[in-house]
Amino acid sequence: MLHFSTLENIDISEITDTFNEAFSDYSIPLQLNYEQMQTKLRAEDYAPEYSVGSFYQNKLVGFILHCYREEKGIKRVYNGGTGVIPSQRGQHITLGMYDYILPQLKEASINQVILEVLENNVPAKKSYEKVGFKTTRRLRSYFGQIQEHSTTNDIQVESLNNIDWDLLESFWSIQPNWQNASQSIRNILDKLLVYAVYRKKELVGYTIYNSASKRIHQIAVSTKSRHQGIAKALINHIRQHNNHDVNIINVDEQDTSTLNFFEQQGWENKINLLEMKLDL
Ligand SMILES: CC(C)(COP(=O)(O)OP(=O)(O)OC[C@H]1O[C@@H](n2cnc3c(N)ncnc32)[C@H](O)[C@@H]1OP(=O)(O)O)[C@@H](O)C(=O)NCCC(=O)NCCS
Repeated sequence: MLHFSTLENIDISEITDTFNEAFSDYSIPLQLNYEQMQTKLRAEDYAPEYSVGSFYQNKLVGFILHCYREEKGIKRVYNGGTGVIPSQRGQHITLGMYDYILPQLKEASINQVILEVLENNVPAKKSYEKVGFKTTRRLRSYFGQIQEHSTTNDIQVESLNNIDWDLLESFWSIQPNWQNASQSIRNILDKLLVYAVYRKKELVGYTIYNSASKRIHQIAVSTKSRHQGIAKALINHIRQHNNHDVNIINVDEQDTSTLNFFEQQGWENKINLLEMKLDL
């Protein structure tokens, strides 16, 4: 007999084991060690009291890892991972976990639940649609190598230590997803590199890069300084000081100028996700 409970009393190592079992046959490689899971949960503001486990004979066999933030008066929960181990699939456990947790989220005055799903993940998408989630936008992910670029000498890239988030966010054309949001970055800033370009002492572009995952979390250039080689100089700097390989995930496909930049670099759009939302 299955039973459901929130995850306050379940330790991260058990969650990591079940996560890896559930994602063992996923269409893209996704296995995390304990430290990577801890970092993910810290970055995303994991909230065990809003998360669900499904248990069979006291073993965690399914989960929804929920994270929580309140921004501009809106209380949001983000699903940072759903999984059911292969031997327990086919019983609509995901629906059961939502039936269990949604009344509790409403009771806690949560306004909205957000998640992302690979667009070809039929069982997951079917489950979310049955719960009432609606697609809000499509997110693209790119993978590739940074080519060597010749850049003009007047563009100097420096490490940025004191971050003025309002200034950096004023460069954005779109809102990043939860994992690339500034709050997720601030939560693990000790693990990230922040590079900036100045023109006449004015900061005009920046990137935030994770050398362990080779992931660019954010890259943006102020509107008035675009098409001057600043983004190229930033990725050149990553190449020189870190890795040639790079990936950037979950970029809103409405941001065509950024996506054109990635495509010009020869980076490949390998996977796409749908962002889905449920208003409570
Ligand atoms: C997604 C996942 C959590 C769903 O597990 P579950 O709750 O046991 O879901 P079920 O197996 O009961 O399937 C849900 C629905 O998808 C359908 N389905 C399952 N596998 C399918 C397939 N290969 N093709 C088409 N439909 C499929 C089921 O028939 C069911 O449909 P129904 O509601 O019309 O009966 C599980 O497949 C999983 O852990 N996958 C790996 C990790 C993952 O993809 N997580 C989601 C990331 S967003």
